[in-house]
Amino acid sequence: MPSLHLHAGHSPERESSLTALLRSCDLEEWLGVAARRWACPEHGDFPRWQETVRALPLHTARHVELNTDQPEIGTLEEMDTEQRTCLASGLRKLAPWRKGPFSAFGVSIDAEWQSFMKWNRVLPHVSDLRGRRILDVGSGNGYYLLRMAGLGAHLALGVDSNWLANWQFAALTRFLPPDLPAWMIPAQFEDLPESTFDSIFSMGVLHHRRDPREHLQRLRRYLEPGGELVLETLISEEAPASGMLPIDGRYANMRNVWTLLHPDRILHLLDEAGFRSPRCVDRTATTLEEQRTTDWMPFHSLQEALDPEDPARTVERLPAPVRAIFIAFA
Ligand SMILES: C[S@@+](CC[C@H](N)C(=O)[O-])C[C@H]1O[C@@H](n2cnc3c(N)ncnc32)[C@H](O)[C@@H]1O
Repeated sequence: MPSLHLHAGHSPERESSLTALLRSCDLEEWLGVAARRWACPEHGDFPRWQETVRALPLHTARHVELNTDQPEIGTLEEMDTEQRTCLASGLRKLAPWRKGPFSAFGVSIDAEWQSFMKWNRVLPHVSDLRGRRILDVGSGNGYYLLRMAGLGAHLALGVDSNWLANWQFAALTRFLPPDLPAWMIPAQFEDLPESTFDSIFSMGVLHHRRDPREHLQRLRRYLEPGGELVLETLISEEAPASGMLPIDGRYANMRNVWTLLHPDRILHLLDEAGFRSPRCVDRTATTLEEQRTTDWMPFHSLQEALDPEDPARTVERLPAPVRAIFIAFA
């Protein structure tokens, strides 16, 4: 099998630890998918990101605290000024940082999303993550994978097709102990062989799928009997009787939102996909505190997506973003 660490900027120790962990979870084939993707990335910026991550200082953090709003990887005192300057400039080259925040050796990465706000809404409703094999579909840069590892997951495995998100995760995990049980595969969920997990998180993905029913059915197949699904997505309480508000063009400036579903419709689709006891545990309007332009994500954000005359609507005159969390069991 092609070596992962050469491509991903991991240490050989990290690769062997991950390989053993994934084999013990019957995920050998997934390793193969990851190795092939790293070897054949088909993205023009890949060499630049690879060079950036490889140029980061090689330093395993002594202080690691992942179970906190801003995961901490190393302290200010653990790096000299020259190394920290190199680190800060490398991390900035991996912008825009959409998910976070993180702290790496005193460098504070203030991402567009205050991702802990979602995590703090989700966490009271999920089973104890200790010892669980978890799949995070559409894991972004792995913010939640680090939080899951911090809570004692046996395996926190992310899958995300976005290369920059994978490089951000590779940059952060470079400083973490090689046996950290969190890892990301740069692929589409639909391209991964069937396997089963104790918990699956699908957060911020359903509204990007052209066929939400197929996504839910697939999630169901990847769960162990009794396993837990945590689904988070944009919803619309204004959806027509069909329970579906089709999006024609952009939604909140995003090009790839296809449908907003009414929460009752999502509960129905979960039931239809064979999930047990589906329930909606949270509905929250996204605020300008949670999603905003920062130094590390300098482009337009939620503010520019809302109608300045009526912030309850988007610039397309659709309902402003509301997100809901659903829990269901296989
Ligand atoms: C809105 S972001 C959400 C990230 C994170 N889960 C969160 O809740 O903050 C959606 C992510 O899902 C990824 N994604 C969407 N569809 C996917 C698919 N079919 N397979 C893998 N990743 C996918 C995108 O690349 C993107 O990083």
